[in-house]
Amino acid sequence: MKILVTGGAGFIGSNFIIYMMQKYPDYKINNLDLLTYAGNLDNLKSVESNPNYTFIKGDICDREIVTKAMKDCDMVVHFAAESHVDNSIKDPAIFVRTNVIGTEILLEVAKELNIKRFHHVSTDEVFGTLPLESKEIKFNENTPYAPRSPYSASKAGSDHLVRAFIETYNFPATISNCTNNYGPYQFPEKIIPLFILNAINNNKLPIYGEGKAVRDYLYVVDHCAAIDLIIHKGKIGETYCIGGDSEKNGIEISETVLGSLNKSLELKNFVEDRKGHDMRYAMDHSKITKELGWVPTVTFEEGIKNTIDWYINNEKWWKEILLKQSNNK
Ligand SMILES: NC(=O)c1ccc[n+]([C@@H]2O[C@H](COP(=O)([O-])OP(=O)(O)OC[C@H]3O[C@@H](n4cnc5c(N)ncnc54)[C@H](O)[C@@H]3O)[C@@H](O)[C@H]2O)c1
Repeated sequence: MKILVTGGAGFIGSNFIIYMMQKYPDYKINNLDLLTYAGNLDNLKSVESNPNYTFIKGDICDREIVTKAMKDCDMVVHFAAESHVDNSIKDPAIFVRTNVIGTEILLEVAKELNIKRFHHVSTDEVFGTLPLESKEIKFNENTPYAPRSPYSASKAGSDHLVRAFIETYNFPATISNCTNNYGPYQFPEKIIPLFILNAINNNKLPIYGEGKAVRDYLYVVDHCAAIDLIIHKGKIGETYCIGGDSEKNGIEISETVLGSLNKSLELKNFVEDRKGHDMRYAMDHSKITKELGWVPTVTFEEGIKNTIDWYINNEKWWKEILLKQSNNK
């Protein structure tokens, strides 16, 4: 089995490659990644010398390099994306280019090469926002699309293209929509690593608005396990919703991180709310649980402890990123 992973130098993609190479030592993996600010080959140090692993630096919008990277592959698992909502509010264009046009090019090349299976990794954010007060309401595979940020609109566009290829060309694809991930190797623009590093460095933790917006958190290795199940046992043409059963708001995240690191709650800092901030995401994952036997296995308490320990023990990894960020200012 040979898999093309796109965006494998990013947070979830690198965790997925490490997970797959451990679980399936015979599989070959091509990793196509442009190495934007979010891509980091240091994430893949543990696999870089494995003869079954090949890194290809390139853009998913470049048909020639995509064709080269996908040639002889049985399967594509597509993570590459611009992934940070705040960046999409400042500059939507790159989100449309990478997330929509890049996905379309991958689909076309995969169709031309008769790839047996294409898995598209997407987000719960395509479904819009849920009311804070009605905890029983969650997103599921039948929830209508209602994206509200340029990021989620671009991911929705990519999902629609995958769906269109399935319907129009009988293209062998699956889609997953997952809630917020956290864990090792997450770029410190996202809330959990940002709060951990700010707390370690005694900097304030910026909490949007009143800190009441809720996200459903899933430990990244559980997401990798879900994708593994979908690509091996999922039904072609289907969408699977993945969630962590772990709804937390900004205040809870900040207090958990500060408490775990024995830091003062005075580091909490309420800042201007994100424009168009979605108030709540939550996922009903009963389809993947019933059909493929997947459940989240890592509790939020275990996952956040692992994650904090990882950032404490991998100072070199994040210090280089913080240095690059301050040089770019
Ligand atoms: N992080 C989450 O909580 C979450 C939740 C659900 C779904 N997702 C989806 O999972 C995927 C991965 O998310 P992530 O958090 O790992 O993102 P990330 O930003 O950490 O990584 C994205 C990777 O894609 C690469 N990339 C960007 N543009 C590219 C291009 N034009 N060509 C080739 N490579 C390119 C980057 O270099 C980087 O390595 C995304 O599609 C995202 O929408 C993320």
